[in-house]
Amino acid sequence: MRVRVVKVPLGDRTYSIQIGEGLLARLGPECRRLRLGNRCALITDATVARWHAPAAEASLRRAGFDCLRVTVPAGEKAKSLGHLEDCCDQLAKHRLERKSFIVALGGGVVGDLAGFVAATYLRGVPFVQVPTTLLAQVDSSVGGKVAVNLKAGKNLVGAFYQPRLVLCDLDTLRTLPRREYRAGLAEVVKYGIIRDAALFRRLEGDLLRLLELDPATVAAVVARCCQIKAEVVGQDETESGLRAILNFGHTIGHAIENSAGYGKYLHGEAIAIGQAAAAWLSQRLLGLPARDADRIVDLLQAAGLPVRLPLPGARRARLLQAMKLDKKVSAGEVRFVLARRLGEAVWGQSVSAAPLDEALAAVAGPAPKRNRTKRS
Ligand code: NAD
Ligand code: GLY
Repeated sequence: MRVRVVKVPLGDRTYSIQIGEGLLARLGPECRRLRLGNRCALITDATVARWHAPAAEASLRRAGFDCLRVTVPAGEKAKSLGHLEDCCDQLAKHRLERKSFIVALGGGVVGDLAGFVAATYLRGVPFVQVPTTLLAQVDSSVGGKVAVNLKAGKNLVGAFYQPRLVLCDLDTLRTLPRREYRAGLAEVVKYGIIRDAALFRRLEGDLLRLLELDPATVAAVVARCCQIKAEVVGQDETESGLRAILNFGHTIGHAIENSAGYGKYLHGEAIAIGQAAAAWLSQRLLGLPARDADRIVDLLQAAGLPVRLPLPGARRARLLQAMKLDKKVSAGEVRFVLARRLGEAVWGQSVSAAPLDEALAAVAGPAPKRNRTKRS
């Protein structure tokens, strides 16, 4: 299979996203082409380390790099100030220098944490993203948002710090648990809603092939998502406007993750529920046709994602409280990204208490019954 290349256009910090099969074997030579120093730290999590670190390290070593492995526990809890400190301590102990570089091998958790280590250790060392989840390949590895969480909320300590290269080896998705793969589809659906109605239609038509990891379909869809993200980030790197559209479904989604306790809902699952609520608000406030709001909910469900959650009174209060801590709050008002139509989103929409309450009521309760696809 050919390697697809998408450029993230950021002047002298422009970098490539390479998408294809068997790319872990090319990690070493690709790092050589970047003219990085001879030492690196591969930051990964315990699960990914077992599956994919040996191939990544072998490629780096074959290309002549001296490589230190730093392993954090798998899961959202690794995105903490404590793990940031542990990683930096290990780099310092092994005397990694300014010319050394970091390789983030893993999902969004590893990418966000290792990217923030790279942004801050010695005031910044180069880093390369090697995303191994669908979510990380289509979203978190691209665009330079790196962060850790605080108890008060997600990603509250972080930076914009771009990688030098993103290498998406589609083979790594074969070891990903099904639930994690489906969670990544939530971000894929998001791109169709915010920017590309044709992609949305393609997802409706090709969903089974995507769920079955058909190589050509996965490659084309990952590349299209990366293209959209690259275009948006190229126009608004630090989210002064347009980039906010990438947060469709995230205002409520982040609050669900935070108020339920990290780990209960996967990021993509929380975002799926958030997108169902945002579709409802879009219909009510921006005139998104009801049929299209239904198509959004149907596609998420067909992908095996949750679109509802139990929301008794105390939980609803915690959720609203968590929303107020979101980074998207401006002058005390919670802001939403909503869709005018499929393929066109608008950001900075303030939503008053009444429709917000109705949107939460719309997603409260057990999942509606539907015919599941065989693989979901
Ligand atoms: P994750 O990194 O926790 O990975 C999910 C699970 O899959 C983990 O248990 C991991 O060990 C395992 N895993 C990863 N790759 C595997 C593979 N190939 N085979 C087997 N197991 C594998 O979760 P995620 O969904 O990739 O990322 C979620 C994180 O990304 C959240 O913290 C979210 O805030 C962040 N995020 C960041 C951005 C951004 O722009 N920086 C965008 C979206 C999401
Ligand atoms: N996932 C949101 C962003 O990168 O801006």
